[in-house]
Amino acid sequence: MAEPFPPYRAHLNGHANGSADGWAHARPAENGDRPPVRTAVVGYGYWGPNLARNVAERPELELAGLCELDRRRADAFAQKHPGLTVWRELDGLLLEPDVDAVLLATPPQTHYPYARRALEAGKHVLVEKPLATTAENARELIELARARELVLMPGHTFVYSASVNAVRQLIRDGVLGEVYFITSSRMNLGKYQLDGVICDLAPHDLSILLYWLEERVVQVAASAQSVFRTGVAETAFLTLTFESGTTANIQISWLAPRKVRQMIVVGSRRMVQYDDTASDEPVRVYDRGMDFAAAPASFGEYQLTYRTGDVVIPRVDAVEPLSLELEDFARAVRTGGEPRSSSALGLEIVAVLEAAETSLRGGGEPVTPVLAERVAA
Ligand SMILES: NC(=O)c1ccc[n+]([C@@H]2O[C@H](COP(=O)([O-])OP(=O)(O)OC[C@H]3O[C@@H](n4cnc5c(N)ncnc54)[C@H](O)[C@@H]3O)[C@@H](O)[C@H]2O)c1
Repeated sequence: MAEPFPPYRAHLNGHANGSADGWAHARPAENGDRPPVRTAVVGYGYWGPNLARNVAERPELELAGLCELDRRRADAFAQKHPGLTVWRELDGLLLEPDVDAVLLATPPQTHYPYARRALEAGKHVLVEKPLATTAENARELIELARARELVLMPGHTFVYSASVNAVRQLIRDGVLGEVYFITSSRMNLGKYQLDGVICDLAPHDLSILLYWLEERVVQVAASAQSVFRTGVAETAFLTLTFESGTTANIQISWLAPRKVRQMIVVGSRRMVQYDDTASDEPVRVYDRGMDFAAAPASFGEYQLTYRTGDVVIPRVDAVEPLSLELEDFARAVRTGGEPRSSSALGLEIVAVLEAAETSLRGGGEPVTPVLAERVAA
């Protein structure tokens, strides 16, 4: 029996260009004479302007307008994109037959109801991370999109990052050997949100880890600290166990003196440091580790040697990941294909977030994410 939601596997349809990262060069769009996908942005707070700018710049997309409740923000959009429609109400936008797709850059609690309404209105949807706030809601959206043959894509931008792709390629090519563990630190003096830091920041780490390892998380244990308001964590620590036994630790916080975006991958052959704040040389591959002589004749014959070889810095081209994400969205709309940031990835991430919240409530007990209990095979 086929699994209704098999483990996330990235689709590299048409993107890989033979370079180490698979994304090294932003290629001109193969637009032909097809009309661009008419796309409206919903929400113009912190992230919405980035979406609007990239939609306006991508040739496969045409910015149709903005839906925003806040007058000041709507005015800011109108100044930047004169002549485009501004809707005050989502329903007004959804009634517009000329709009093919909507990009939801509204707070997480709105993702499920707004995405549902948009799909019911026949629009393709790109919904910012996380896809929904519960796995049950994420599954419902996926089923609805499938039934209507519409694209539902979560905005996991990091799977389009050249650095992230460079590390993924090292793992896939066996350069790192067996991956023992990964640590991720994502901290800064962040924007306080009532959804908490796990909902805000962990989707980034989780999208990268799932994309790199291509296997399921079987257990999550979480602890967190809420300094200002009970139940709203500003700092959290997640420990994940993957199917193969690889472990990962994620530290996330809005309370840190400077921006830290660092991941370390420790493998049997090589170790990697990925620093997303480094404008040049974000990925470093270290030929370092310990070699342990196998099968000694007696206890005293164990041999431990340290390896401290070269550090290799792969070339990573700077292309804005959000632009590539939107190119992939347009391709999915036009071809019906699965985008790299797929709804299956979005669901896995939501299930892990949900398990982390359950673990928190249970005092840090390990919890197994639940993906697909309700879906018929
Ligand atoms: N991919 C990334 O790297 C990235 C980065 C930051 C934020 N995000 C995501 O983007 C989303 C938005 O985050 P943000 O920080 O921009 O939030 P924000 O609060 O700054 O902005 C949200 C905007 O949505 C508007 N809005 C809310 N309900 C609306 C409605 N019914 N109709 C029209 N407008 C409405 C609000 O007025 C506000 O301007 C979140 O899901 C967040 O997780 C993604």
